Amino acid sequence: MSRDVLVELRERGALGDRHYEALEALHVPWDDLVGGSRVEGEIGRVARSGGHLAVVGPSGTGKSSVLAAVLGQLAPDVPAHLVPVRVPMSVVERGVVDPGDFARHIVRQVIDWAAPDLPSRREQQAIEERIADLSRRSRRARRRGFALNVPLALVSPRLAAVTAGLASDIEVSAGGWESRVRGGEPWHALGDLVAVFRGRDLEPFFVLDDTDIWLRSVYADEAEVLVRGFVANVRTMITEVDCGLALQVHTEYLRYPAMAETARRLQLVELPRLPDPVAGLVRILDRRMEVAGIAGGTADAFAEPALRDLATVYEEAHGDLRLVLALADEAVGEALQDESAGLVGRAAVRAARAKRAGLMP
Ligand SMILES: Nc1ncnc2c1ncn2[C@@H]1O[C@H](COP(=O)(O)OP(=O)(O)OP(=O)(O)O)[C@@H](O)[C@H]1O
Ligand SMILES: [Mg+2]
Repeated sequence: MSRDVLVELRERGALGDRHYEALEALHVPWDDLVGGSRVEGEIGRVARSGGHLAVVGPSGTGKSSVLAAVLGQLAPDVPAHLVPVRVPMSVVERGVVDPGDFARHIVRQVIDWAAPDLPSRREQQAIEERIADLSRRSRRARRRGFALNVPLALVSPRLAAVTAGLASDIEVSAGGWESRVRGGEPWHALGDLVAVFRGRDLEPFFVLDDTDIWLRSVYADEAEVLVRGFVANVRTMITEVDCGLALQVHTEYLRYPAMAETARRLQLVELPRLPDPVAGLVRILDRRMEVAGIAGGTADAFAEPALRDLATVYEEAHGDLRLVLALADEAVGEALQDESAGLVGRAAVRAARAKRAGLMP
C-alpha cells in the first residue's frame, strides 16, 4: 500500500521543483506554522498600504513562495485596486546598475506585461490551464482581480473594461516613455507609468523577487559595486516614483553596507525558522501531496527517523526548504530501488545525501 504512495510521489513529481505559478498553491503560511501575523499578515499590510518591503532570508527558505502566496492568483486578501507586478531581474545583465537601464527595464516589463499578444495565445492557454488546475487541486478559488505574475490579458473577464483601458493607456504612452528614458529622464518615465495606473484608480506594487539570482550570477567579483548600484536605484525609485514595492533580499547581502542601510528604510520581514522542524516539514510535505492529488499523507511515505534526518538537514542548511524537498524527492527514488521498502527510511535519506553531497551544508 505505502509503496503505491512512493510510486505516486515520484511519478507526479510531487516533491520536485515547480513552476513559479505553483509556489503559492504549495505554500503553507508561516503565520500558521509559527503563529501570529508577522509574515503573510505583515506582507499583506505593507502591500495594501503601498509600503516598501524586504523579505529577508537565506537561499531556498521561501522568499518567493511567501510573496507569491500573499499577492498571487489564489490569495484571498488583495484589494481590487492593487496591481502586483512582478519585475524579473534575473533576465537583465549588469546594465541595470545604471539608473536609466533600471527604470527602462521596469517600464519595458510593464509594457510587456500589458501587451495583449504577450505571452503568445498558446502560452496564455497553458498558464490559464495551470492556474485552473492548481486552483482546483489546492481548493482555493482563483482571484477575480490582478495577481502577481499574471499577464494583464489573463486578468479575469469581469475586469475587462479596466484591463482594456489600462492596456491601451500603456500602449499609447510606451513610445513616449522610451524617449524620456533615453533623454535622461528615466525616473520621470517611471513616474508617468505609475500615473497611468493611478489615472484608472489602480495602484501598482512592484515585486523584485529574484534579485538574488541576478546579483549572485552576474560578475560575482563585482558584487559590491552591483549591490551598491542596485540599492541606489531602489532608493531613488522609492523617493522619486513613490510607489509600493517588495524586494527579496538574501540574508548574505546584508553584509554589504549599502544593502544594510537600504534595508533599514524598508519594512523588514524576516522569514522565521520552523519552530518544530519535523512537524513543520510534515505539514509542508502533506500539502505537496494533497495538491498532487495523492491519497495519503507524509506518514504513509516517510518513516519517523527519516523525517528527523530531514529536519536535521533543514537545521544545518539554515532553513533551506528547497534543499530539503530535493533531498526528500531523491530519498523517495532511493527507497523505490529497494523492493522491500514500504517507507522512506534513514538509509534512503543517507543515500540521497551522498548523491547530493556537493549541495550539502
Ligand atoms: N511556507 C512554505 N510552505 C511550503 N513550501 C515552501 C514554503 N516556503 C518555501 N517552500 C518551498 O521551498 C522551496 C524554496 O522556496 P523559494 O523558491 O520561495 O525560496 P527563496 O527563498 O525564494 O529562494 P532563493 O533564495 O533561491 O530565491 C520551494 O519549492 C517552495 O515551494
Ligand atoms: Mg526566490
